[in-house]
Amino acid sequence: MFVALAFMALTVPRYLTFNPANTNVPAPDGFGAHFWLLTGHVVFGSIAMTTCCFQIWPAFRNRFPKAHRVMGRLYVFAGVLPAGVLGIIVGAVSPFGPVVRVANVTLGVVWLIVTVVGIRMAIQRRHGEHRRWMIRSFALTFAIVATRIWSIVFAVAFFADQLTEEAGPLDPTVQTFTGMGVWVAMIVNILAAEWWLDRPTASQRRARKARRARRHQSQDQGMA
Ligand code: HEM
Repeated sequence: MFVALAFMALTVPRYLTFNPANTNVPAPDGFGAHFWLLTGHVVFGSIAMTTCCFQIWPAFRNRFPKAHRVMGRLYVFAGVLPAGVLGIIVGAVSPFGPVVRVANVTLGVVWLIVTVVGIRMAIQRRHGEHRRWMIRSFALTFAIVATRIWSIVFAVAFFADQLTEEAGPLDPTVQTFTGMGVWVAMIVNILAAEWWLDRPTASQRRARKARRARRHQSQDQGMA
C-alpha cells in the first residue's frame, strides 16, 4: 500500500489538473485525444492499484467478505478493464519507441487476459484458481511501479554518463533504458508471483525438515 501510495502521489496529480501541458508523455502528431485517453488510463489505473491492495490483504478479505466482492468488481470493471484497454491504445503509439510500444501492448493484453480468467474462476466458484489468477493480476498491476524502479536502475548502471537534463522520450538512451525497464519488470513480477504461489507452506517446510533429520539420523546409525 505504501508503494502504491508513493507511486500515485508522484505520478497521478499532474493528470488531475486536466491540462495537457502537464504530462510527461508527448502526444503523437495529429492524435489530439491522446492526453484524455492517457488521463482516463491513469484514473482507472489508480482505482485498480488502490482496490487490489485491499483485495489481496487476507485479514481484510476474511473480516469484510462483502466489501471484498464489491471491491473485486471495482478492481475489474472500473480498474483493470478500462485502464488496460486505454493503456494498450496509448501504449501502441508510445513516444518512447518501438521496444516500449511492444512491451506495453504485451503487458496490457496479458493483464486483461489474466484478470478475465481470474473473474471467470470466481463466477464458476473455483475459489482456489480464482486466488491464483488474481495474485498474477496483482503482480501485473504492480509491474508498472517496478518498471519505473528498473528503468532508474538501468539508467544509472548503463547510461549515467550520457544522460542530460533535457533528454526526453525521443532520446535513444531514454528509449533503451525505458524498454529494458518494462520488459524486466513484467518478467520478474510474473516469476515472483509463480514462486509465491508454489512456495512450500509452513507445514510442508516443517515436514521436509523432519524428513531430512530422519534421513541423517538413519545414515548416522548405519555408519555406527
Ligand atoms: C499493467 C498494465 C499497464 C500498462 C500496459 C500501462 C501502459 C501505460 C502507457 C503506455 C503509458 C504512457 C507512456 C508511454 O506512452 O509509453 C502509461 C502511463 C502511465 N500509467 Fe500506465 N499502464 C499500466 C498500468 C498502470 C497502472 C495500474 C497505473 C496506476 C496508477 C498506471 C499509471 C500510469 C501513469 C500515472 C502514467 C503516466 C506516466 C507519466 O506521466 O510519467 N498504469 N501507462
